[in-house]
Amino acid sequence: MKVNVGELVLDENARKYVNDALERNWLSRGKYHELFEKEFARYHNVSHALLVASGTDALKIGYESVKPELKKQVYTSATTFPATWNAAHYGGMPVYGVDINKETWLIDMNDLDARLKSVPANEHALVVPVHLFGVPCDMPHFEELQQKYGFSSVEDSCESMFSTFHGRSVGTWGDFAAFSMYVSHIITAGVGGIITTNNDALFERAKTIAVHGQEKQGVYVHKYPGHSSRITELEAAIAYANVQRIEHNITSRKHNYTWIRSRLEEFDQLTFQKIQKGIDFVPMMLPFKCESPELKSALEAHLQKNGIATRELFPIIEKAPLNLNKNYYPHSYELQKNGLYMGCHEHLTKEQLEYVVQTIETFLKKQ
Ligand SMILES: Cc1ncc(COP(=O)(O)O)c(C=O)c1O
Repeated sequence: MKVNVGELVLDENARKYVNDALERNWLSRGKYHELFEKEFARYHNVSHALLVASGTDALKIGYESVKPELKKQVYTSATTFPATWNAAHYGGMPVYGVDINKETWLIDMNDLDARLKSVPANEHALVVPVHLFGVPCDMPHFEELQQKYGFSSVEDSCESMFSTFHGRSVGTWGDFAAFSMYVSHIITAGVGGIITTNNDALFERAKTIAVHGQEKQGVYVHKYPGHSSRITELEAAIAYANVQRIEHNITSRKHNYTWIRSRLEEFDQLTFQKIQKGIDFVPMMLPFKCESPELKSALEAHLQKNGIATRELFPIIEKAPLNLNKNYYPHSYELQKNGLYMGCHEHLTKEQLEYVVQTIETFLKKQ
């Protein structure tokens, strides 16, 4: 049996909307962009959402749109997909890593607090909390730090959609938030990103920067230097079909995550992420930590031999100028050394779930 970390199924609506766009000979920004953005913003309780070419672009545009007049230093989780750092690096902003919390595996707010104390008075901190795996960071503590330091922020929510902390949605704490629609994400159109904000003026600036700094479609007035960051009506149509069946996908992802995790939690050789009280999340994947790198390699190989896909938990970029050094990020290194993730997506069948759990159980019992 084959079990992937994600799967693409284009449903009837996706095909209908794509055909509709094709029949109208329409590829540039159109009705499906508008329908999707409206629906996505409504679900996340934000005023504005804009489709761009990728999650990385959404981050880049967010980083650049916030306080463009100030010299910014970016502070973000040492454990993340490298795009979080790359977006800053190629925007000319130095990036500083923050360790993850030992138990939640998300940016550690105490470590962030300590590192923010050394930001020079003439520089402005831009903090990027990364809601990994579908799970929101410790946002109540983040808010306290926001008030203490007055930093700007862009939430990297590329792996999290429809998740909340104390009922408040991801994407509502930062000046901006960035989401990704790359394959295997909770909403996927193959490519694409979404940038959201509650700030009208910031939205206008980001919208302009996303499209060559052009103030209005079809009129050559370019206010700022900008990017070329768009998706076609075909991808927007697929994304809109995704959001229409999202309730079903949310329910089945939550079910699959809980079902697999509860069966494997009895094994001491595996550790799972601590979920803080007050969080209601939609898992993008199921991460876990093995008790040693040797067990991780053996389990990974065993699962691969049995057709079950896993992925490593994020490389840490060590090369200058990203300022990431293993002595400063012990928990991030520990997760990188021992961590893996598997799928818990909505297309997994009951038989596949049982097969995954039994394959792991049999392996662990023999260790
Ligand atoms: C945490 C995180 N940030 C940023 C990105 C970049 O998104 P994209 O691949 O759409 O550029 C990803 C992609 O998976 C991600 O996981």
